[in-house]
Amino acid sequence: MIQFVICSENDQPDHLLAVPATASFIRPFPAFILGNDRFAAFQYRNQLPSSYFDPTNASPMTALAKKTFNYVGYFLIVAVALYALTFFVPGLHDGFLQNKPLGSLLWRLTFWTHVLLGTVALVLGPIQFSTRMRSRRPALHRQLGKVYVVSILTASVVAFYISWFADSGWIAVTGFACLAVAWFYTTWQAYATVRRGELVQHQQWMYRSYALTLAAVTLRIILPLELAAFQLPFPVAYRIVAWLCWVPNLVVAEWFFVRRKAPVAVRV
Ligand code: HEM
Repeated sequence: MIQFVICSENDQPDHLLAVPATASFIRPFPAFILGNDRFAAFQYRNQLPSSYFDPTNASPMTALAKKTFNYVGYFLIVAVALYALTFFVPGLHDGFLQNKPLGSLLWRLTFWTHVLLGTVALVLGPIQFSTRMRSRRPALHRQLGKVYVVSILTASVVAFYISWFADSGWIAVTGFACLAVAWFYTTWQAYATVRRGELVQHQQWMYRSYALTLAAVTLRIILPLELAAFQLPFPVAYRIVAWLCWVPNLVVAEWFFVRRKAPVAVRV
């Protein structure tokens, strides 16, 4: 009988041979996503190669470097999430808000919705990518996944609206508006693929989606650098960062996570 194994390009042939012959990998995965947790958890743990669960395990980075990288990442994510929540404290961001159409209820509603749901999505990302959580608590993964998707679909629509009021002119406006469209599209694809049981494609779209969510972090790293280290005037720095906060994120996600770990069907 011919069997197909979904595996990573980086897997060695002997690794594949070690996979039990009983595993039939072309099996669709809606059971995992849509229900039957115990069966699914077993299937998920035992049938897919470890590289599927840990996209970095074929990386040349040492374990210590990976850990440090992760902790720095978590720290930045938490820092930006806390920073975002300070927008709910009156008087703290009057400088930013003074140029905004605060008289418009629609703008106020969309802006604060965006900040709140953007923060939810930002914080959920690392939890959803956790290999441990996915294999041990698949039901929780599904529930939080729904929260992530709904948060972003809403936050991206309102982000598209507030983009038209962004500082520094049309280059910044279009940068944020395109980011909002890409954010919506990648997240929608992540959801659509998982509903169809296409687990590998789901993971790839999630990499793209979260890479865009991380624009909130990269923006707040790049902007101060532009202002402090390169002494750029604010409008110039802002126009640049409206694009630089997300295009490189997508390239990195595509190169390091989607392409290098692209699953392939292998005949065994
Ligand atoms: C990835 C897609 C995102 C898009 C397209 C987007 C878009 C925008 C836009 C257009 C503004 C107003 C900028 C201005 O008026 O000058 C803004 C501000 C803001 N956004 Fe987002 N955003 C995104 C993600 C996030 C996330 C994930 C968070 C959560 C931390 C977030 C938190 C904020 C905050 C706190 C502000 C207030 C202004 C600032 O601190 O720069 N955004 N966003």
